[in-house]
Amino acid sequence: MNNLRPVGIIGTGMYVPEKILTNSDLEKMVDTNDEWIVSRTGIKERHIAASDQATSDLAYEAAIKALESAGMKAEELDLIIVATVTPDSMFPSTACILQDKLGAKKAAAFDLSAACSGFVYSLATATNFIKTGMYNNALIIGADCLSRITDYTDRNTCILFGDGAGAVVIGEVPQGRGFLSFDLGAEGAGGHLLTIAAGGSREPASCDTVSAKRHFIQMSGSEVFKFAVRIMGSATEAVLAKAGKTKEDIDLFVPHQANIRIIQSAMNRLDLPPEKVVINVDKYANTSAASIPLALVEAAEQGRMKEGDTVLMVGFGGGLTWGASVLVW
Ligand code: ACO
Repeated sequence: MNNLRPVGIIGTGMYVPEKILTNSDLEKMVDTNDEWIVSRTGIKERHIAASDQATSDLAYEAAIKALESAGMKAEELDLIIVATVTPDSMFPSTACILQDKLGAKKAAAFDLSAACSGFVYSLATATNFIKTGMYNNALIIGADCLSRITDYTDRNTCILFGDGAGAVVIGEVPQGRGFLSFDLGAEGAGGHLLTIAAGGSREPASCDTVSAKRHFIQMSGSEVFKFAVRIMGSATEAVLAKAGKTKEDIDLFVPHQANIRIIQSAMNRLDLPPEKVVINVDKYANTSAASIPLALVEAAEQGRMKEGDTVLMVGFGGGLTWGASVLVW
């Protein structure tokens, strides 16, 4: 693949809803406290979508900014992929809703479901479309409204999640730049550790599923934690090897923002100093598919990458899944 044309990021944008839910707000809702949440997760606050906002609305705001930063019109887009586990509805896809909102008339559009790994899965998918010449560009968005599938009476989960969207436009870039490698994977046997049980064809929505709260996220936190620590290390090493790089080559590490302790364990394993790691879990919490692009785009807006820097993104999530990529900025 690497002898085909180089593909990289040519535009970035992000959006988080205005409303902020702080740890002290949560103290009034469940039996928890700021000290527990900060020390166990690193999260201080999260953004929550307004009642009239759905995932496509968040995605739209991020997309407009990414197109502007790429200097492109929506009509020029060839492909739109929205990575999400909280689509506006079962169908049409959120990508199709967004295609219409943007007026991206010639773009193919579909959603991709890989939970928190969805953004990297989508990047890999679109990169290969462009490398092989089927398309010239793509708009990739990680967007989720996890607040809509969170049980705010369950202290084990409700402290963890927030809403947001991060977008990139990808296309051909000069030789020596762009995506060098991807490492995607899944351990479907662990799917039950992180799930929304009802609302699909196995357990369709009914009064019983609603009263049993089976439309909310159910998670075995400590099992997911162990998976995350293991996979963040192994996926990072695999994707570096595929790119012909070592951990010393990493200029900026952009991990999935789920828990500061998971990020710190990866930093220890890779000997990464704080200045090489993007951390914004304190402000946005875990925004699932939006997490990595929010971290990447915020770092770009803060001027933390310069041309030629080696950037490594890595995430894990429901499925269970993981996705990592090495990119020359
Ligand atoms: N406030 C106070 N106490 C709490 C809270 C809370 N919000 N939540 C749990 N506790 C209690 C528990 O009840 C437990 O009490 P007990 O010992 O009396 O039973 C105690 O704190 C310790 O609970 P643990 O679950 O062992 O806490 P842990 O240190 O493992 O942290 C956490 C829990 C934060 C959920 C952690 O396991 C984690 O981050 N897991 C990974 C989550 C993750 O990354 N998920 C990805 C989902 S993304 C996606 O795909 C949508």
